[in-house]
Amino acid sequence: MIPSVLPTYNRAPLAFVAGSGSWLTTEDGRRYLDLGAGIAVNVLGHAAPELVAAITAQAGRLWHVSNLYRIPEQEALATALVEATFADTVFFTNSGTEAMELAVKMSRKYWDGHGERSEIVAFHGAFHGRSSAAIAASGAEKMVKGFGPLLPGFVQLPFDDIAALEAITEATAAVIVEPAQGEGGIRVASDAFLKALRARCDATGALLVFDEVQCGMGRTGRLFAHEWSGVHPDIMMVAKGIGGGFPLGAVLATEAAARGMVAGTHGSTYGGNPLGCAVGGTVMSIVSDPAFLSEVNRKGALFRQGLEAVVAAHPDVFEAVRGQGLLLGLRCVKPAAEVVQAGYAQNLLTVAAADNVVRLLPALNIPDEDIAEALARLDRAATSLS
Ligand SMILES: Cc1ncc(COP(=O)(O)O)c(C=O)c1O
Repeated sequence: MIPSVLPTYNRAPLAFVAGSGSWLTTEDGRRYLDLGAGIAVNVLGHAAPELVAAITAQAGRLWHVSNLYRIPEQEALATALVEATFADTVFFTNSGTEAMELAVKMSRKYWDGHGERSEIVAFHGAFHGRSSAAIAASGAEKMVKGFGPLLPGFVQLPFDDIAALEAITEATAAVIVEPAQGEGGIRVASDAFLKALRARCDATGALLVFDEVQCGMGRTGRLFAHEWSGVHPDIMMVAKGIGGGFPLGAVLATEAAARGMVAGTHGSTYGGNPLGCAVGGTVMSIVSDPAFLSEVNRKGALFRQGLEAVVAAHPDVFEAVRGQGLLLGLRCVKPAAEVVQAGYAQNLLTVAAADNVVRLLPALNIPDEDIAEALARLDRAATSLS
């Protein structure tokens, strides 16, 4: 008999009822060290006092009014994002997938009445969500099988391959890429690739869209991952970390890229609601602080150094460490799913990704002692597999 919850996930038999910082507690009181952070969402850890205060204060004032009216909390967060980035304007969504939908719509609308381009270029290994447009962009068999007919107009190129960028032409409306692929296995695009991509987009007129849903909001040690390369997009998708656990996403764009998005072209009942934006504004003010980001870099380097030692000690389990900042991955020799299972046995939560990688995406403020504890548990998990 089908369960009451549609069985689209292979869930671990764990149910958490409380969290604090980098720790989660099960119904029966067992504590787990969380290196998944809700898949790169809980950037300030569980039950972060600043976020509890922000949402509690807002919940007592006003939850929802719709976008028929001005929303001061939304305007404040949009202004903060504009001031911190390449962007001139922001639309708020409830998720990364919805951000992807708007990024696709905005890219095509840009060409409406200006050359009518519709082709969107994406990359192998990409993940942009589960909507019809997002699975068509991914093109992966496991995402699209049985869901046809696919939304037309998407093509895929090899990731991080400069020579392949020749396929971007005057017919290309936009190119959508994760500066660091998350679900694809923590594959960080080289600076040279992102620079060549920007140059090719400039040469052909194609818009450049960065999907920073997973790698953004401080995860790599800069507010947004693309900042490492110095390359700026025309449009950027954000979600996950920006809400710190509250469902919130956004599309950021330059004024030029947003030229088609006039009144009536897009909308959302909940997107940018006062509750979400009160939380998002608090996350943004903490994570965009240069002192916070420099701590992410320090913690990322500390964690990585320890991981290199764990990998070196267990060559039969791990092959290499990947990633940047606290967007970390372990390329495995053993099946990644077995490594995740072995972690559960040590009360350690990690997340599998493609390319036989185990992701480590802790809270960005994970204490140093929790990093040390995570390394000890990973080491024990690896020993159990040897
Ligand atoms: C890079 C990227 N884009 C888009 C999405 C979709 O976001 P959501 O699950 O919030 O719809 C994800 C989710 O994992 C993601 O990692």
